[in-house]
Amino acid sequence: MKITIIGTGYVGLVTGVCISEFGFDVTCVDRNEEKIQTLQSGKSPIYEPGIESMLQANAAQGRLHFTTDTAKAAAGADVIVVAVDTPTSKSGDQVELGQMYAAVDEITPNLRENAVVIIKCTVVPGTTRKVLERIRKARPGLKFSVVSNPEFLREGSAIEDFMNPDRVVIGVHDHYGREVSEHIYRPLALQSTPIRIASLEDAEISKYASNAFLAMKISFINEIADLCEQTGANVIEVSDIVGLDTRIGDQFLRAGPGYGGACFPKDTKALAAFGREAGAPQRLVEATIEVNESRKYRIAQKIVDALGEAKGKTVAVLGVAFKANTDDIRESPALAILDVLLKSGIKVRAFDPQAMRAASKLYPQVTWCDDPYKAAENANAVVIVTDWNVLRALELMRLKSVMAEPLMIDLRNIHRRREPAKFGFTYISIGRDVAEPADSEHEADTRHLRAIGG
Ligand code: UDX
Repeated sequence: MKITIIGTGYVGLVTGVCISEFGFDVTCVDRNEEKIQTLQSGKSPIYEPGIESMLQANAAQGRLHFTTDTAKAAAGADVIVVAVDTPTSKSGDQVELGQMYAAVDEITPNLRENAVVIIKCTVVPGTTRKVLERIRKARPGLKFSVVSNPEFLREGSAIEDFMNPDRVVIGVHDHYGREVSEHIYRPLALQSTPIRIASLEDAEISKYASNAFLAMKISFINEIADLCEQTGANVIEVSDIVGLDTRIGDQFLRAGPGYGGACFPKDTKALAAFGREAGAPQRLVEATIEVNESRKYRIAQKIVDALGEAKGKTVAVLGVAFKANTDDIRESPALAILDVLLKSGIKVRAFDPQAMRAASKLYPQVTWCDDPYKAAENANAVVIVTDWNVLRALELMRLKSVMAEPLMIDLRNIHRRREPAKFGFTYISIGRDVAEPADSEHEADTRHLRAIGG
């Protein structure tokens, strides 16, 4: 079976590489020549753990090819997976389907008899059926199937997520599309992955509902974190306790600076807009978006306030990617934070293990540093924005020694509350009381008292 993937973004490339790993002959297509050349040389244009070695191994076996020639790649394929970008429209909320329809129109004249077109990009309900009708109209009499197969992989663990998903969703309108899709995912079915066959619309809505629900969990715990700060509670304890209820589950309950990335912000907005249009307003999703949007700026203001007289001070921003293990800064809360800090007249020094290339283009006025300690030099505060492991392993004594003032603002709660305070930091985190150096001395005193039986 020959499979062509249109689009080599996160979803397209990971799908192409992983399906070739299943043993199929895969051709990945992209219009961007530079990207295709990079891929042909065995390099990945995106930072994603594990992708490059898998890409090289399958290309070496002759199962994975890269081209800019959409028409040719489509003509030779039994299955065509459309995985192009579906960005947010200029109006700011709807999903923009222009690239997706352009890709469909480009492959349509070249579809062979019995071709299966799989829509993998995230599209609003009803879109896949429109694709079906569009191809039918352009190629009357042609036997073909269209499938909706939304992807749930996360950046940073994309290969693992593709190879070990919680479920695979296959939305179909006929038996042939189902059979072919089941054949592709057979290696996963054999390892007991649930393969859910659904209608086209069920599949489309499931993807939006899943992402929106996860985003809602994050906005929910973020508001609970605000409440914890007002009451002296500790949000980490609270989310642990809440998450122990198996009906709720412990995932996506980490409070932080707000969610970012290519999916949650885009998909929640698209779902809310679609709900309004369809006369079924998604009020919880609307609130989720509002909480997240305002949060990024509130958190940024919290940093400015913590500095006292902020103008002219220096802040080290540690991490700008929207989460760890990716070089992606799309919709990262770090961007809102950088905007507010710079507008407040603060000098910003910054570090990120992977995302500095993209971020430095957007923020040339920031001093970009190769390591966190350089970034912290003479800083009045360090702000941890992304939960990179390298920031968990910071040597706090060394960090403090290079700073002008020992203030740490940890937006990911990656440190124990009293740990930085033990090294003399004032430690501000999310959903927990501020820890002052004196607190840890107090703790040492009580430990001493306990030790002597007091
Ligand atoms: C998400 C979905 O998880 C995935 O299923 C879908 O296919 C694409 O969108 P991704 O955007 O790669 O994946 O990242 P994810 O790990 O879900 O994190 C999204 C954002 O939420 C990040 O900014 C992250 O830092 C934030 N987050 C996540 C929290 O703030 N708290 C949490 O508990 C979890």
